[in-house]
Amino acid sequence: MRVILQPTPALTWVAIGGVLDLYVFLGPDPQSVIRQYLQVIGYPMMPPYWSLGFHLCRWGYTTTITTRHVAQRMHNAKFPMDVQWNDLDYADKRRVFTFDPWRFGDLPEMVEEFHKRGMKYILILHHPPGTYSPFDDGLKRDVFIKNATGRILIGKVWPGPTAFPDFTNPETRCWWEDCIRDFYSKVPVDGLWIDMNEPASFVQGSVEGCPDSDLENPPYTPRVVGGQLNSGTICMSAQQKLSTHYNLHNIYGLTEAYATHSALMKVRGKRPFVLSRSSFPGIGHFSGVWTGDVRSDWEQLRYSIPAVLQFSLFGVPLVGADICGFGGNTTEELCVRWMQLGAFYPFMRNHNDKPNAPQEPYVFGQKAQAAMRSALNLRYSLLPFLYTLFHHAHTSADTVARPLFMEFPTDPNCQTIDRQFLWGSSLLISPVLEQGACSPVCLWGLFHLCFGQYLLLPAPLDTINIHVRDGHIIPQQEPALTTAASRRNPFFLTVALSEGGWAWGDLFWDDGDSLETFEMRNYCYVIFIAGQVGKRRAIFALELMRQSFAFYCTST
Ligand code: NOJ
Repeated sequence: MRVILQPTPALTWVAIGGVLDLYVFLGPDPQSVIRQYLQVIGYPMMPPYWSLGFHLCRWGYTTTITTRHVAQRMHNAKFPMDVQWNDLDYADKRRVFTFDPWRFGDLPEMVEEFHKRGMKYILILHHPPGTYSPFDDGLKRDVFIKNATGRILIGKVWPGPTAFPDFTNPETRCWWEDCIRDFYSKVPVDGLWIDMNEPASFVQGSVEGCPDSDLENPPYTPRVVGGQLNSGTICMSAQQKLSTHYNLHNIYGLTEAYATHSALMKVRGKRPFVLSRSSFPGIGHFSGVWTGDVRSDWEQLRYSIPAVLQFSLFGVPLVGADICGFGGNTTEELCVRWMQLGAFYPFMRNHNDKPNAPQEPYVFGQKAQAAMRSALNLRYSLLPFLYTLFHHAHTSADTVARPLFMEFPTDPNCQTIDRQFLWGSSLLISPVLEQGACSPVCLWGLFHLCFGQYLLLPAPLDTINIHVRDGHIIPQQEPALTTAASRRNPFFLTVALSEGGWAWGDLFWDDGDSLETFEMRNYCYVIFIAGQVGKRRAIFALELMRQSFAFYCTST
């Protein structure tokens, strides 16, 4: 479809046809529009607590030795980090659900070692190529997408000729679950990364091309990459259980995310973590999303903010861009600023492409490392607050990373701000997005503060400006090198009193990994109120736990 925003408040909308459901949400305010929308598409899932920690990945960690070394150097340099990732380097001949016996022969042991250190491990999944057991089993169970003549459609992805599972078929979901269960029994992964699931293919349509039909070349084709609907993907006339691929193309990633989420839930019995490249309304119920292959440059750093905020509005709060950029070499300054901004992406992962210069935090100079460490520590200290925001997204369709216009819909100054954003309603994040904004002679970055005020604030390289809104309390915890450790540290509160001397805040707390803790009432919810009692300032904490109440009061 093609949607054009008109200068008047109007849209021109042209679609190729297919299945189209139209809803109009009346709001009236932006937050109500999102809530009404999510009532239709599904509320976001509650992510595991550890997934809000720092993730480190690159294409090119070619052995378990390299991968271990990376995690060890992060640890030695005292960078908080929860999750080590591998890209497709781990797979034997790039075939999913296998691991290379020479370079990754001790993958299971490596994952166990990470677990012992309180860390987690995630790897990538693509689509299976021909003749090995997951493929052969899939063939027997008839799980692959067929071409118009009923034979299995073969495209081309990383391993070469590749078949595409049809996740609209219930048998495919069972097969996928079996593959994941079998692999998990050898490699106890904590989450799965589903890539190239637009679905992407390096040949147009299939290795045999596509028939010349209206489905492949409908009377109207919007401007798409490669010019045709089947460019870079599979034939529109391909047959899936539910319908033609023409009707199902846009939801391929959604159906894979659903299958992967439910397989992980059954296999691990814990909260699933899935990261998907393709997305469609409703995917936030099953998965997080990253913004794809961004370049290592300042423009892409800036654009990552609106990208993240849009996914918030689409009901996918667990979102982030590849920190320091995926394509091309980063620079030290760019990477520091990106780590600082990335510390406030709801999903925080540094990921790099194979040919590029390394960009793990420990490769940079001491000053840059210190700045990145302090951004990471700040994030880790704020995780109880971030987790509470995810709870509100999961139960009330609130947004986590929030554009200013949603919080202040009547303030015209806020409508176009896309260089700053909020966490919930109370934390304002104002990152540096320009090169040189922190050179030794120029210590000033430019930030817009809402309510019509514009202020210049110092932003040297070690600083990202964060403001707490008055009248709010932020629950925090001393940071540590993993969330397994930080969750055992003391809590503290940052209180910003309103002019009248009051503030409030809240904390949702559970074991961080079990399924349905909210639904089963297996959690703790605390409301903090700060105010004046007689001549003294006090903070009250009201704890609502399994329907019982407890009061605490601390004088300050
Ligand atoms: C494409 C993905 O977008 C990228 O993140 C990944 O590194 C490569 N595929 C290789 O798996």
